[in-house]
Amino acid sequence: MTELSKSGAAVGEPTTGSAAPSAFLEVRDLKVHFPTDDGLVKSVDGLSFTLEKGRTLGIVGESGSGKSVTSLGILGLHTAGQYGRRKPQLSGEIWLNGTELLSAPADEVRKLRGREMAMIFQDPLSALHPYYSIGKQITEAYRVHHDVDKKVARKRAIEMLDRVGIPQPDKRVDSYPHEFSGGMRQRAMIAMALVNNPELLIADEPTTALDVTVQAQILDLIRDLQKEFGSAVIMITHDLGVVAEMADELLVMYGGRCVERGSAQEVFYEPQHPYTWGLLGSMPRIDREETERLVPVKGSPPSLINLPSGCAFNPRCPYADVPKDNITRTERPELTEVGSGHFSACHMSREERTRIWTEEIAPKL
Ligand SMILES: Nc1ncnc2c1ncn2[C@@H]1O[C@H](COP(=O)(O)OP(=O)(O)OP(=O)(O)O)[C@@H](O)[C@H]1O
Ligand code: SF4
Ligand SMILES: [Mg+2]
Repeated sequence: MTELSKSGAAVGEPTTGSAAPSAFLEVRDLKVHFPTDDGLVKSVDGLSFTLEKGRTLGIVGESGSGKSVTSLGILGLHTAGQYGRRKPQLSGEIWLNGTELLSAPADEVRKLRGREMAMIFQDPLSALHPYYSIGKQITEAYRVHHDVDKKVARKRAIEMLDRVGIPQPDKRVDSYPHEFSGGMRQRAMIAMALVNNPELLIADEPTTALDVTVQAQILDLIRDLQKEFGSAVIMITHDLGVVAEMADELLVMYGGRCVERGSAQEVFYEPQHPYTWGLLGSMPRIDREETERLVPVKGSPPSLINLPSGCAFNPRCPYADVPKDNITRTERPELTEVGSGHFSACHMSREERTRIWTEEIAPKL
């Protein structure tokens, strides 16, 4: 991740009218707000990050923190009427390979989707059409972007199914989604997402519904394919364990905002935000009995219509009462650089956080 603050775009601040960035993907102050009868749901509220090709960014956060809304935003999939509700409000900038997607015509974004960027969805059944064979869906995805006849596209579909480890791909290509197991459907969806060798792959909780062995296989597969194609990968999960081995960089989301980001190494081993500590504490560990695991993070996610004032994590934070110099509880902590390329949004001083982490938290993990 390059640092936005160094390239002149302060993290969390709009950078309207700026030039194309050098990074392969740069998201600047992305906001996705949904008007509802109860008020404006600020699902994503000022997210900024960059990602280079060949690198993997893990986006972690609990349910409802805005992970999927972020990915749908990048892919241009928040369209009016999609949810039978009012038009979502999107702002900020999303630069992919020199093109700003939020201001680009819908046609252009549609062309990029599938060819340059693709998504593995949380639920394969929602991405695969029940009435068409797996093969037909993969060939269609290929033919949208390649001027080839059906035979060539079918060959490509079989190749991809083979590549993702579907046995007898020349036969299974004619199966329907319901004839596949959960793991196979997930593989088929990965084959469809990768059929055009996208340069950006977003995997949204690609393994949540799968058993541990299949989970590991799918993650290996994404890693292998990434190596082969040199794609940039965004791996979205609520489980830090899933991205522990895969991610180069990590972005921790809370209530639609980034509370910490940096290299995976730093976020894992020198985390600088109490919410990240909570997530790390809830990671399953082989050497710890189920009952011994720390409680995930006490309390419930914040309302995205009325975020708590000041730090949104305030009501759940065990350190909310630690005195902070000249800062009132109603002041919102901004993302600030706490180490090279490592950002955290917390009012505690770096010294205080480091002390708590090394003395109180790390020894218990
Ligand atoms: N169309 C919509 N209208 C109103 N609110 C929405 C809409 N889409 C999403 N949201 C809200 O935005 C918030 C973020 O949703 P999102 O799906 O991004 O969460 P998530 O982090 O992916 O969670 P999960 O881990 O459960 O998948 C949620 O509170 C959700 O209810
Ligand atoms: S700003 Fe305060 S409430 Fe928020 S994470 Fe830091 S210590 Fe906790
Ligand atoms: Mg989601």
